[in-house]
Amino acid sequence: MTKTIRIGVIGMGSASESYIPHVRRLPLEGVPCEIVVSCDLRASQKARAEAHQIADFTTDPAEVIGRRDVDLVMILTAMPSHGPLALSALQAGKRVLLEKPMSIDLAEAREILKLSKTSAGNLVCAPHVALSPVYREIAQRIANGEIGRPLTARGLYGWAGPDWASWFYEPGGGPMFDLGVYNVTTLTGLLGPAKRVVALGTTALPERMIGDRKIKVDIEDNVHLLLEFDGGCIASIATGFTMQKYRTPGIEIYGSEGTVQMIGEDWGPQGFELWRNDRACWEVHELGGGWRWTDGIRDLIQSAQEGRKPVNAPDHAFHVLDVMSKCHESILTGRAVAIASTFTPLVFENRAARLAPHLDHAPS
Ligand SMILES: NC(=O)c1ccc[n+]([C@@H]2O[C@H](COP(=O)([O-])OP(=O)(O)OC[C@H]3O[C@@H](n4cnc5c(N)ncnc54)[C@H](O)[C@@H]3O)[C@@H](O)[C@H]2O)c1
Repeated sequence: MTKTIRIGVIGMGSASESYIPHVRRLPLEGVPCEIVVSCDLRASQKARAEAHQIADFTTDPAEVIGRRDVDLVMILTAMPSHGPLALSALQAGKRVLLEKPMSIDLAEAREILKLSKTSAGNLVCAPHVALSPVYREIAQRIANGEIGRPLTARGLYGWAGPDWASWFYEPGGGPMFDLGVYNVTTLTGLLGPAKRVVALGTTALPERMIGDRKIKVDIEDNVHLLLEFDGGCIASIATGFTMQKYRTPGIEIYGSEGTVQMIGEDWGPQGFELWRNDRACWEVHELGGGWRWTDGIRDLIQSAQEGRKPVNAPDHAFHVLDVMSKCHESILTGRAVAIASTFTPLVFENRAARLAPHLDHAPS
């Protein structure tokens, strides 16, 4: 019989409202698991635990990590606490799901990465974009050479910005760690490790309202990042708490023989559009929106039950953090910065059966 994985949730804020319902659905989909305890430094978040009918609540994360009946710890806290909590959960031999970024400090992240290789527990770091069927299909199309050699690419993710917590606007927060991280993960996943970055960042809106409180913004809320890859390929990412709405693809990749554009954003993609010179038409692949951005938890649980490693190795999350840290360095110094870290991108099986495309545009 498959072992039921027992979960402790640390951080009962906004993100928990997406993860907890997802975990609740998993047993119905044949993945036995249960949440046995939740935790938040703020005692007022107990109301959320009660609303989700989680039996135990504590304000002490060490209590969750120390419990013998917890197999897996989900870390959904404000960003500055990710690193210390991940280190102590891995030290305790727990399986760990860590929201992004893996740490706000590269040296601490290096320790986490090292420990993840020797700890009894596995580490899965968000964002889980590479698990989405749309990402996998795009990765396969690129690997099959359907757009030729990738030459240039773009990523975009922004919105007006959170109004529920001030830490987003303090050092260790900001749109690159919160939003741009998805695009950096997707583009490095699809194009390989970045070699060099250069960036501009500004504080476009120096004051914000959090509830009825006015706060000073102490981060760049408006960032444009350029990344250089092997073979001369360049990508740009625009991210910020400075965008009200848009109708642009989240990810665009331009190759020597074609183009692929994601429909929707990489955290919740709806499909993709593909141009191939040899077919001279746009193919629209609507793959539906069933996939959830929280799905890394399913893979972590299943990897424990199946006695395998999770699909995503934390080396990728470390590289992404390296890129984001060097992005910040470039903003401060005005210089391009080399990236030393690397990782091996996932390779997906070549599926013989292709989804039939809906041809949207007549050949020109
Ligand atoms: N809000 C979303 O929709 C969303 C989506 C994807 C990812 N995330 C990620 O989830 C994480 C949390 O974001 P959020 O929007 O839920 O923030 P939030 O401020 O709403 O919630 C964070 C919660 O963590 C608690 N907390 C902080 N430090 C803690 C500690 N050391 N121990 C225990 N509890 C602690 C806070 O009291 C708060 O209740 C971030 O890393 C964010 O990037 C959020």
